[in-house]
Amino acid sequence: MSIDNFYTVAFDLVKQAGAIIRDKINRPKDVMVKSCDVDLVTESDQQVEKLFMEGIIANFPDHRFIGEETTSSGTKVQLTDAPTWVIDPIDGTMNFVHGLPHTCISVALLINKITEIGIVYNPILEQLFTARKGQGAFMNANPIKVSGEKELNKSLLMFEMGTSRDPEKMKIVMENLKILTSKVHGLRALGSAALNMCMVALGGADANFEFGIHIWDFAASDLIVREAGGYCIDPAGGKLDLLSRRLLCASSPELAQELSNLLVQYYPERD
Ligand code: IPD
Ligand code: CA
Repeated sequence: MSIDNFYTVAFDLVKQAGAIIRDKINRPKDVMVKSCDVDLVTESDQQVEKLFMEGIIANFPDHRFIGEETTSSGTKVQLTDAPTWVIDPIDGTMNFVHGLPHTCISVALLINKITEIGIVYNPILEQLFTARKGQGAFMNANPIKVSGEKELNKSLLMFEMGTSRDPEKMKIVMENLKILTSKVHGLRALGSAALNMCMVALGGADANFEFGIHIWDFAASDLIVREAGGYCIDPAGGKLDLLSRRLLCASSPELAQELSNLLVQYYPERD
């Protein structure tokens, strides 16, 4: 089996999943809470994850999964060398619940712990971001690239409050907001970690960072940003670790470094 086969099957499943999200976004939903009252899940999150996993298993029975809704809270993620699909069935669940059209499905395929495929699809705004290792990044089949911006004071920065209400984490979010507000062109929060990063890949924003995200929030977008010519690193400046729950991406190494130097760091428990 080749990566081409894997991509074709995943692409088709992502489009089917997108149709569910599009159909359900403006309907009443049963909303359940997970780790805290702003960490939400709906039946559609579960339905999309099931659809994707069943579709992959039917075609590639030996593939493994790390899915947001099938990973029990508190369980450590097991990432092996086996082909592994990392799935966020609905990233931006809070937006989905409210009907805000910034929401997406995010899937990545890792083989030998290297990301080979990344797909992020916002079916409401019809933004389909795709990347294959070494083959560039695309939105709706058109090549995309990062802005190349090098200076923080000319940058549009994506960030998030996150879905934790932990006081220590909130304090650091606020400290970083205070430090950065006067140093950048602007700050934006779309409410989806995956889409924030895709905006950097697209060149519409220049950098993004977040503490507390999970592997399913950023595995696909990490590849999309890198294939668009961007840089993904640990916020303290080292190599990106997909299980660390820490991410900084930027349109140039200079910008990544300047942002990293300013950030108050936070180290959540690893995935
Ligand atoms: C969340 C969103 C949010 C980010 C959180 C994520 P979810 O994912 O991406 O923007 O700040 O860290 O967990 O809960 O919508 O799948
Ligand atoms: Ca998510």
